[in-house]
Amino acid sequence: MTQRQILVTSALPYANGHIHLGHLVEYLQTDIWVRFQRLRGRRCIYICADDTHGTAIMIRAKSEGIPETELLARMQKAHVDDFAGFDIEFDNYGSTNSPETRAVCEEIWAAIRKAGLVHEKEVTQLYDVEAGTFLADRFVKGTCPYCGLQNQYGDSCDNGHTYSPADLKDPVSTLSGTVPEVRSATHLFIEIERLHDFLAEWTQSGEHLQPEVANYLKGHFLHEPLRDWDISRPAPYFGFEIPDSPGNYWYVWFDAPIGYIGSTRAWCNRTGENFDDWWRSDKTEIHHFIGKDITYFHTLFWPAMLKTAGFSLPKKVHIHGFLTVDGEKMSKSKGTFIQASTYLKHLDPSYLRYYYASKLSPRVDDLDLNLDEFANKVDADLVNNVVNLASRAAKLAQKTGLSETYPDDGGLFEQAAADGNQIAAAYEACDYNRAMRAILAAGDRANQFFNDKAPWELRKVPDQQDELRDICTIALNLFRQLAIYLAPVLPRLAKQTGDLLNDPITSWDQANKPLLGTQVNNFTHMMTRVDREKVKAMVEESRQADAAPSAAPQHDDSDEPLKAEPLASEISFDEFMKVDLRVARVLEAKHIPEANKLLQLTVSFGGGETRNVFAGIKSAYDPEQLVGRLVICAANLAPRKMKFGVSEGMILASGSGGKEIYVLSPDEGAKPGQRVH
Ligand code: 2FM
Repeated sequence: MTQRQILVTSALPYANGHIHLGHLVEYLQTDIWVRFQRLRGRRCIYICADDTHGTAIMIRAKSEGIPETELLARMQKAHVDDFAGFDIEFDNYGSTNSPETRAVCEEIWAAIRKAGLVHEKEVTQLYDVEAGTFLADRFVKGTCPYCGLQNQYGDSCDNGHTYSPADLKDPVSTLSGTVPEVRSATHLFIEIERLHDFLAEWTQSGEHLQPEVANYLKGHFLHEPLRDWDISRPAPYFGFEIPDSPGNYWYVWFDAPIGYIGSTRAWCNRTGENFDDWWRSDKTEIHHFIGKDITYFHTLFWPAMLKTAGFSLPKKVHIHGFLTVDGEKMSKSKGTFIQASTYLKHLDPSYLRYYYASKLSPRVDDLDLNLDEFANKVDADLVNNVVNLASRAAKLAQKTGLSETYPDDGGLFEQAAADGNQIAAAYEACDYNRAMRAILAAGDRANQFFNDKAPWELRKVPDQQDELRDICTIALNLFRQLAIYLAPVLPRLAKQTGDLLNDPITSWDQANKPLLGTQVNNFTHMMTRVDREKVKAMVEESRQADAAPSAAPQHDDSDEPLKAEPLASEISFDEFMKVDLRVARVLEAKHIPEANKLLQLTVSFGGGETRNVFAGIKSAYDPEQLVGRLVICAANLAPRKMKFGVSEGMILASGSGGKEIYVLSPDEGAKPGQRVH
């Protein structure tokens, strides 16, 4: 039988945000699957990249006063470090902003044009006059035109309706807080309906999608003609300009999946692999792992693009649900919006790898990270069941090593070896929960055996040393089977096991044959119990990352600040009312390289009214923390000429200076321009 060759991808993370525990559900699910395939002897590569284009990056780079490419390089490094911290290993981690991706975009575009699928249409789109840009769907909020649900994004609502942003009721730009204008521009559309029959067949074949996904597509999209897909955006837009349509750029969702191919091509260029073997050949199975929110792009548009351009179609699109924490959406204020880097400061990545594995199934269900269960499960399953067995047996076997022949264990080794088939089938089907349960059951049997034999009682009995060695040989071999089966999830444990027994774990089949006659090395610690204080500290740090530096402690009973700065003398109500305090949104914030204390902010009061303000908050804030935030601004101060320009207002903040500066914000719901009384 020829060796299976597999190309695996995870969705490309946006370059404008850091990796958090929600993202990690997918990257860990994928990394485990890839490691499993390799352990089974398959040729399997894991490809990913940063998704770099679109309005968000453009706005953020502008607000930081740096070129987009500088921002992309910084974010890519942060992403790569976060993934490495969780032992997520890619064969290539590229970027959609690459010559390879551009070349594939051009190739696919030429094929789509040639097939006559492109036509132009005038589009009325929302335009933010203040920010000087057309608004991407995610930058508009308003009321769903179908069900009236408020505070919904420009492309779809939480009830699953999709629409054009121009149809949204009461739209507001999230960039400036202003009401956007409707403007018209020419866009390019792909007539995806012309591939309806192909897509109906491909999605409903039962081979490529989970059944609930196939049903969803049938019920929501394929039961009627597919709408044309608007794939261009007019300038200004950060992306690739469409070669035969100057002034228009490919919409980020056109080039994002093409990044899978671009990143593979970069890998081929680096390694000398033949590109066509991977993307234009039956030799390779392509597997995409994605979240349920991007089903539509990967199961309709993407196969349509691939088909038209003659690339291989995915063998399977594996779709997972969202992460909730303690039963709720991740929340910044509750400290449950936890970034990967914050987790890594406090906790062992293997804990999360195992915990997610124990909860992942082949279904599209959401996954709940319950922090108490997380700690209890890791302690019970990994530390008490798996690692303790190794630690107890290895310490007893250090002097003797493993027996030369495998002793009678009542069939335990054979039973666990036979379990390998169903465990492998569960991994293959992404049913990691089932795989973990079967592995733990084998662990229970091994512990039962070890406890019944109580070998520690034989340690000092001279004529029982052979018996002691035999018991430890069995226990360590049963443990080693667990470590092999867990290797896709816990690569560090696999490495430690290989080091302990002088036999690296490289293949699933090692679980079929006992290891004999080898020395047992010094047992070095494999995994500790979860320190609950560290879990709390991680949550606390995540909460503070959200609040800081804008919020002072809520219940600070100390009166030190009052002593340090006594209350000012009384003024009349009318005097106070002369100060016109307004809610304002920070549109831009940037460093002034020569200034030690000042940041330069552009704030909006809505309705096209903006102010340039210099604020002495540089020691406590990075510009990027401020963009988009609502602040309170003294709006009727006489303009002040300063070294770097004229300041037209004052942002309210408390604190004593340095890191101790806290910019004031209104509660959620306040709107730019509202007067503060
Ligand atoms: O939803 C997202 O985070 C997108 N950046 C995923 C892109 S996946 C692929 F198409 F590139």
